[in-house]
Amino acid sequence: MAEPQKHILLVEDEGPLRQALAEQLTDRGYRVEQVDSGENALARLADFAFDIIITDLRLPGIGGTEVLEAAVERYPDIVAIVVTGFGTVKDAVEAIKRGAWDFVSKPFQIDELLHALDAALEKRRLKSENAYLRAQLEERYRFEGLIGKSPAMKKLFQLLETVAPTNSTILINGETGTGKEVVARAIHHNGTRRSHRFVALNCGAIPETLLEAELFGHVRGAFTGAVGNRQGRFEQAHKGTLFLDEVGTMSVALQTKLLRALQEREFERVGDSHTIKVDVRVIAATNSDLVRMVAAGQFREDLYYRLNVIPVQLPPLRERKEDIPLLVQHFLDRFQRDGPGAVRGGKGSSDHAVTVSQEAMRRLMAYDWPGNVRQLENAVERAVAFSAGRSQIEVGDLAADIQQAQEPVLTSTVALPDEGLELDRFLSNIERDLIQRSLARTRGNKGAAAKLLGLKRTTLVEKLKRLDRLL
Ligand SMILES: Nc1ncnc2c1ncn2[C@@H]1O[C@H](COP(=O)(O)OP(=O)(O)OP(=O)(O)O)[C@@H](O)[C@H]1O
Ligand SMILES: [Mg+2]
Repeated sequence: MAEPQKHILLVEDEGPLRQALAEQLTDRGYRVEQVDSGENALARLADFAFDIIITDLRLPGIGGTEVLEAAVERYPDIVAIVVTGFGTVKDAVEAIKRGAWDFVSKPFQIDELLHALDAALEKRRLKSENAYLRAQLEERYRFEGLIGKSPAMKKLFQLLETVAPTNSTILINGETGTGKEVVARAIHHNGTRRSHRFVALNCGAIPETLLEAELFGHVRGAFTGAVGNRQGRFEQAHKGTLFLDEVGTMSVALQTKLLRALQEREFERVGDSHTIKVDVRVIAATNSDLVRMVAAGQFREDLYYRLNVIPVQLPPLRERKEDIPLLVQHFLDRFQRDGPGAVRGGKGSSDHAVTVSQEAMRRLMAYDWPGNVRQLENAVERAVAFSAGRSQIEVGDLAADIQQAQEPVLTSTVALPDEGLELDRFLSNIERDLIQRSLARTRGNKGAAAKLLGLKRTTLVEKLKRLDRLL
C-alpha cells in the first residue's frame, strides 16, 4: 500500500547543512520545505499542516523552542525532531518536555536523523492505532465487560441482549478462561433481576458431601459440624440469579435433587422436612461435554434438558484471533488505570500510554491460547511488568512460548499439482526466496539477514552457495 508523501518543514539557518539535509530527505521520498529562520517557520506553520518538523534549536531571532511550541500547539500530532548544538543535553531534554519526539546533536550523520525520524513515525503510527482501538472499545464491541468484534462475539452479544431480560435457564459451555462467568454476570446485570443478588457457586470446588448443604442450606445438627441453621445458595439468590459453575462435576444423586429444585422451584434444607419455595433464575456453566456425559450415563439426561433451555457456546480465543488486539488494548488500559503499578516510569498520561510493537502483536496473534482470555490477560500483565516503564512492549517482554509462536505457513496457498512435485527442490526454492528477501531487507548485510532468519552468518553463506549450485 503506497503511503501518501509526508511533508517536512526543515528549519535551519546554516545554508549548506540545510541544503544537504533537504536533498537526503527528498531522496527518501519526503516532500521537504526549507526555511532559514524561526520567523519564516512560524509563517509557514500558520498555513500548512506539516506531518513533520525538523528544527534547529539555535536560530537567530525567534528560537527553535518557540517554533517547536507553536508547531505542537497547532498540530498535536506533528512529529517534531530537534537539532541541538553539541553537548547541550539540557536543551534536548527541555525540547522533549515541550513535545519533541526526539533529538539529534550536531554534528550528526544523516542516518542518525533518519533513524530518529523512522522511530518517531512508527511510534506515532502505533499511537494512532492504539487510539483507534481505544475508540472502538469505547463505542461498540462490548457488552458489560465482554470485549469482542469477531462475528462469533457479535452474535453472542445479540443473543445475550435477547435472553437477558427473560427468566429462561441458560447453559454456558466453553473452554477454561473463555469468559463463562463474565457472561453469566452480564446476563444478570442486563436482566430484570439486576437489583437482586447474583450468587455464584463453583460445584467443582466443594467436596461432594458439603455441596448439597451449600446449595440448599441445612439445619442445626443435620450433619457433624452443622452447628446452626444456614441458608443455602438457592435461598440467597431469591429473586436474583444463581450461577452454578462446573455443573458437570455433580454426583448423579445430587443431580436428582437439583433437577427437582429446578422443576418445582422448591426444596428442603438438609436435615429438615420444611419445604422452601424460591424464585431464582439459574445459569449453569461447564467446560465438559455434557452430551457425552449423558451418553456415558454420568449426567442425567432430563437435567441436561432442564439446564440447556438456552445454550450459549463460547468460542475459544484461537478461533477468534481478530479479538486479540482489542482485548490486549482493554487489558493494557486496565493495568495502566488500576493495575499493579503498571506504568512505572511515571508517564501516567494517556498521551504516553504503553503500546505493543507490531512484531509482539503478531506473536500474540499467532499463539494458540490454551488458557484463552484469562491466559491473555495474564500475558499482558506480565509483559507490562517486563517492559519496566518503557513505552512499548516488545517481543522480548513476552513469555518464551508466546515469543516462539509463529504464523503457520499457509500451505493451502501452495498448490499440489496433479503430477506431483519434487519436495526437496520445492523447499529449496522457498529457502532461497526467504534468504533473498532478508538480504534485500537488510540491504545486503549478511550478518543481519542471518539474524532475521535465526541462522548463523556462516550457515547463511553456506546455504546460499548450496542453493546456487542446486537451483
Ligand atoms: N470477552 C471478554 N472480554 C473481556 N474480558 C474477558 C472476556 N472473556 C474473558 N475475560 C476475562 O478473562 C478472565 C476469565 O474469564 P472467566 O472467569 O469468565 O472464564 P471462565 O470461562 O469462567 O473460566 P473457567 O472455566 O476457568 O472458570 C476474566 O478475568 C475475564 O474478565
Ligand atoms: Mg469460571
